[in-house]
Amino acid sequence: MNKKYRKAIIAGNWKMNMTASAVRPFIDELRAAMPKLKTCDAAICAPFPLIPALGKALRDFSRVAVGAQDVCEFPSGAHTGEVSCDMLTDLGVKYVIVGHSERREYQHEDDFKVNAKLRAAIAAGMTGIVCVGESLEQRNRGLTLEHIDYQVSSAVYGLTEEQARRCVVAYEPLWAIGTGVVATAEQAQEVCAEIRAVLKRRLGARTARAMSILYGGSMNAKNAAELLAMPDIDGGLIGGASLKPADFAAIIAATAQE
Ligand code: PGA
Repeated sequence: MNKKYRKAIIAGNWKMNMTASAVRPFIDELRAAMPKLKTCDAAICAPFPLIPALGKALRDFSRVAVGAQDVCEFPSGAHTGEVSCDMLTDLGVKYVIVGHSERREYQHEDDFKVNAKLRAAIAAGMTGIVCVGESLEQRNRGLTLEHIDYQVSSAVYGLTEEQARRCVVAYEPLWAIGTGVVATAEQAQEVCAEIRAVLKRRLGARTARAMSILYGGSMNAKNAAELLAMPDIDGGLIGGASLKPADFAAIIAATAQE
């Protein structure tokens, strides 16, 4: 993490877990465990039906922002089952994940769609957390950096520098998500440095330097500090460990290290 240029961001991704009635007790526990530091932006990306309850529970606990896990790229109209940017911002949503590998895989979202969603989210005033990452097969075949270059370039295509500053890139190697197998700090740093190099080529040095890059994939209270010590890892996108308030708070606390 380079604290001179970037603020740390820790975002929880609850995935398809929790219920609206479980939100208040969770936030009460999180608040009790939360470190005092002000140098980290924290968010919880919840399933859509839980967002009103999350917003309510966080009303007097503004250190954690409300996030969503997906959004429709179209503004309104005949898109049955979809949720628009306006619907999210109206509920106070500040962050939205786009292009998570689970959506790319199970909902067949391609890079074109991910770019459209990111642009819509940013235009609506939200911060888009766009996910990229290689499969184990791609890593074993030596294709990691090539794949990441393509995904990052596609994701930020057409964004102005100003728009890109409302975008966070999350590096999530597919083989590390939900598996308990975390990338080593060196592996994660190598790819995050590559992401920043791509951002520099596409958007210029100043913008690339100002953008936060997160690591995600089995990040937890034990391994967070080592990952966050890397110069190009500015925070984390946390799945499993974000479902435990004490663990999530401990990861936020780990951003305070030097
Ligand atoms: P994990 O998930 O922390 O449970 O590996 C991370 C993610 O998919 O965002």
